[in-house]
Amino acid sequence: MSQTSAKPISMDTTDTRTPVVACHQLSKVFKDFWMRDRARAVDRLDLVIRQGEVFGLLGPNGSGKSTTIKLILGLLKPTNGRVMVFGKSPNDVATKARIGYLPEESYLYPFLNARETLEYYAKLFGIDSKTRTRRIDELLEMVGLTRPVPPGARVFQGDAAADRDRPGPYQ
Ligand SMILES: Nc1ncnc2c1ncn2[C@@H]1O[C@H](COP(=O)(O)OP(=O)(O)O)[C@@H](O)[C@H]1O
Ligand SMILES: [Mg+2]
Repeated sequence: MSQTSAKPISMDTTDTRTPVVACHQLSKVFKDFWMRDRARAVDRLDLVIRQGEVFGLLGPNGSGKSTTIKLILGLLKPTNGRVMVFGKSPNDVATKARIGYLPEESYLYPFLNARETLEYYAKLFGIDSKTRTRRIDELLEMVGLTRPVPPGARVFQGDAAADRDRPGPYQ
């Protein structure tokens, strides 16, 4: 993925107009076992996403969309260039708490149902019990998972979003 622009990006963390995501000349080259360049997945990407914007990353398979997302999440380290999320490094712990991400493949505990899964992650995020219960009710309602699990039904995958697409156990 390659895009170039001459306009410099403000990286000032105190500026309220600080972009939610800013990539500057962001590049990622995957190396092979012998450290030879194997794939130039992201090539000098300049990208700014501001508050309130809905941004879609489109491109054919292998064009670097997933790699770009992983760089924004701090799961991969750029080969060159930089990426800022809310004006900070994506490795900043406080920044990570503000990011929601649904991976292509989610690995959720199969023995937890949707409510238990949300409880688990809410606790990890240190959300207090009252807020937790309210938010979980809202989220389950939002994705249509408020019906109780029928007795004897197989325990489902637990991911609220994915469960919406996996109604098997409820039928
Ligand atoms: N972990 C990896 N190791 C080596 N090459 C990779 C790795 N991940 C992605 N690539 C390569 O980087 C390029 C971009 O891949 P990717 O970001 O997955 O594209 P997209 O999500 O747009 O389909 C492809 O050529 C892919 O083979
Ligand atoms: Mg992909």
